Amino acid sequence: MLEELEALLSQARDAIIQAPDLSALEKVRIRLLGRKGELTSLLRRMNQLPPDQRPLVGQRANAVKEELEQLLTHREDELKNRALAARLQAEALDVTLPGRAFTLGHTHPLTLVLEEIERVFLGLGFSVVEGPEVELDWYNFEALNIPKDHPARDMQDTFFITEEILLRTHTSPVQVRVLERLAPRLPVKVIAPGKVYRRDDDATHSPMFHQIEGLAVDRHIRFSDLKGILLTFAQEIFGGGTRLRFRPSYFPFTEPSAEVDISCVICGGEGCRVCKGTGWLEILGAGMVHPRVLEVSGYDTSTCRGFAFGLGIERVAMLKYGINDLRLFFGNDWRFLSQF
Ligand code: PHE
Repeated sequence: MLEELEALLSQARDAIIQAPDLSALEKVRIRLLGRKGELTSLLRRMNQLPPDQRPLVGQRANAVKEELEQLLTHREDELKNRALAARLQAEALDVTLPGRAFTLGHTHPLTLVLEEIERVFLGLGFSVVEGPEVELDWYNFEALNIPKDHPARDMQDTFFITEEILLRTHTSPVQVRVLERLAPRLPVKVIAPGKVYRRDDDATHSPMFHQIEGLAVDRHIRFSDLKGILLTFAQEIFGGGTRLRFRPSYFPFTEPSAEVDISCVICGGEGCRVCKGTGWLEILGAGMVHPRVLEVSGYDTSTCRGFAFGLGIERVAMLKYGINDLRLFFGNDWRFLSQF
């Protein structure tokens, strides 16, 4: 019986070691140690042995059982580890893949230019104010000395909402709103940036664009103050060598009025394609505030005067960054926008 035990042990060892997976191993375990298993039935036959042999065989049988249990546990661990390793391998994440880049938005070129212009005027003592984009005819035209039948209304093709309500065609109505609110206090020194709307649409005109209005009113404001302020602005934005040219013009709300040019930012005044050979680029309209505008807003023109100007922000940005199509600002093309 001892030989039988040894034979069983050595066969069982092989079977355990060779069990290819956990379910095969479980079958081996049942075959050996189950209720009808090989070792179990062998032990049952122990009572057929002569009593003096029983202790010895019994001892050996217990040792064999213990060894088989250990072998089974060991193999089970081994197979479990292997299965786990295989699963980990199969479900592996490739952590060497580069992560998805997270793109942050940034400042639009028009906002960039606007902020730069604001910084210049804040440095010159101006405050920033805003007015509504949906405006009354009164502020957009009437109070600016442009009555209903005035031909100057044709200069700005207007989006009307009702007869009296419209989308503002310029930022000049903010002049009137500010004066009305502050009258008769002095001095008034504000800039008013914002969106304006006109029925225009081509490479250099968009139905919506941006302006900055400037307004200064005080006891002794003169045209030369306007010139000085605008020269400082132009040189801060376009460089120290920039020169200005004032051409007589007409706006109903300023008198005298001027169209203001800067020396060409591309050729410096020599004449090139951008300035069409003239050496000058028009960037804004300006003038001394018309007395009637001051009076309708509650100011006494015997004690104060003012200047005003209106500047196109797109125009400044196009010249500053060398952009040749206005529509690029509003096209939301990432390739364009990411350059700023
Ligand atoms: N509002 C005028 C325009 O849009 C510009 C301007 C503003 C002219 C202030 C004079 C004074 O054309």
